[in-house]
Formats: sequence, C-alpha cells, structure tokens
Amino acid sequence: MKEVTFGGTTVPAIGIGTWHMGDRADRRDAEIAAIQAGIHAGARVVDTAEMYGSGRSENLVGEALTPFNREDLFLISKVLPENASRDRMQASLEASLKRLRTDYLDLYLYHWRGNVPLAETITELQRLQETGLIHRWGVSNFDGDDLQELWALPEGPKVAANEDLYHLGSRGVEYAVLPWQQAHKVPFIAYSPIAQGDTHGHQLASNPVVKKIAAAQLTLSAAELTALDRQFPKPTTATPLDIL
Ligand SMILES: NC(=O)c1ccc[n+]([C@@H]2O[C@H](COP(=O)([O-])OP(=O)(O)OC[C@H]3O[C@@H](n4cnc5c(N)ncnc54)[C@H](OP(=O)(O)O)[C@@H]3O)[C@@H](O)[C@H]2O)c1
Repeated sequence: MKEVTFGGTTVPAIGIGTWHMGDRADRRDAEIAAIQAGIHAGARVVDTAEMYGSGRSENLVGEALTPFNREDLFLISKVLPENASRDRMQASLEASLKRLRTDYLDLYLYHWRGNVPLAETITELQRLQETGLIHRWGVSNFDGDDLQELWALPEGPKVAANEDLYHLGSRGVEYAVLPWQQAHKVPFIAYSPIAQGDTHGHQLASNPVVKKIAAAQLTLSAAELTALDRQFPKPTTATPLDIL
C-alpha cells in the first residue's frame, strides 16, 4: 500500500475514519469490529475528534484499540475551535487522551478555524508537543490563504499535516492547496474521500463512469484515470475551499 511520512513516522496512506461511530448503541459492536478488522488488514492510522458524538467516537476508538500495541498505531484527534486557546486546550486534550485510553496522540489537529487568534492556537499546540502529550500538531479545513498565514507565524512551518475535504467530486484543493503543500512538504490528509457515497450532490457511488470502473480490476489504467478526469474535472481557476 502507498505510504505517507508524518515527521519521521511512515504509515500506510489509507486510514480509518470514525465520524459518527459511537452514536448508536446497536451498532457499537459492529463499529468496534470494523476498526479492528481494518487494523488486522494493515491499517495503522485512526482519525477521530472530540467533536464526534461529543467524545463518544473517542470512547469507542479507545475500546477498539485495547488489543493492539500502542506503538503500532498512529492516532489522530482534533481540538474544537472553542477549545483551541491557551486556557482550554490542555484540558481538552487530556479529556481526549482519557477517552482514547492513551497518554499521547501521534497527531493533534486544529479542527477548523474559530475565533481564537491563530498565533495563540499554534503557540499552545507547539507547547503541548513539547510536553510529549502530542507528538505532532496540524490543522484541518485550511485553505491556501490560511496556510500562508500559518506559515508566516514563528512556529507555523512545524505544521505536520493539513486535513481537507477531497474526493473526485470536490477537487478545488488541486488548484492551490495541494501544490502549496507539496512545495512546502506538508502532508495532506483527504477527508470524506468517497464523498460519503452518494451525498452532497456528488453522487459518486451511482455515477456510471465510477460504477463501470469499480466493477473492473482494482488497478486503474491511464484511460480510466482520464475518464475520471473528464467526468470530474479539476478546477482551472481558484475556488473557495469545500467543507462538510
Ligand atoms: N477534518 C474534518 O473536518 C473531517 C470532516 C469529515 C470527515 N473527517 C474524517 O474523514 C473520515 C472519512 O470521511 P466520511 O466518513 O465523512 O466519508 P467517506 O469516507 O467519504 O464515506 C464514508 C461513508 O460513505 C458511506 N458509503 C460508502 N459507500 C457507499 C455507497 N456505495 N453508497 C452510499 N454510501 C456509501 C458509508 O455509509 P455506511 O456507514 O452506511 O457504510 C459511510 O458513512 C471521517 O470518518 C472522519 O474521520 C474529517
């Protein structure tokens, strides 16, 4: 499987998302089994957030990961904008760690921008990294201008990743965000990479080109990539960042 390196640690490029997990008691066992099956199949990255089910996703992830060695996993969680301040972030992080049954995160993301000044948030993330409670910090839902503002801060270039919406039906990030991140060697994490199936008007799962290709072999040929490119063209001008 393709791999990605986050500040010295190399992991498989496909991770396990956990949004909405833990919300329904009748699905709990199946959700835990799904996470564990993913790890048995070779996944190492698990992505959660304090926002998901107000901590219920982190709780479920903590339970699901108990049979595995912590050092074999790469655990990502995210701080809500209203908690991304000098006064509140550490308490928020410690609550996440408790729910996740661990004493560190591999990557802690600023979930999306809120009212706390960016410089304060980044200073606090860097301070928490120095305590060892997080091994790296990053951002999420940052557009090109957000990334440039971040980069201009003293600790900004220490950012370990940016996580944005990216799938066939939403390719705006290819215009400015992805090229910028490649040039500055900041890893990109795509969220909702299959557009949640058929939601948000993108209708990937029922798209005839996608269906035809999905029924064939798993390695995409150049012709199939071109067909997908025609069906879901990348932008030729700057577009505002899509978010969910
Ligand atoms: N940083 C952020 O702001 C942010 C935002 C959104 C997501 N994320 C992260 O990214 C992860 C992945 O994103 P995501 O869960 O939003 O979406 P996704 O990975 O694009 O899609 C997963 C969803 O698609 C549905 N699905 C899959 N195949 C389908 C099909 N053939 N037809 C219809 N529906 C289908 C699944 O439904 P079933 O469950 O019914 O199978 C599932 O709910 C999240 O879990 C979260 O960890 C981060």
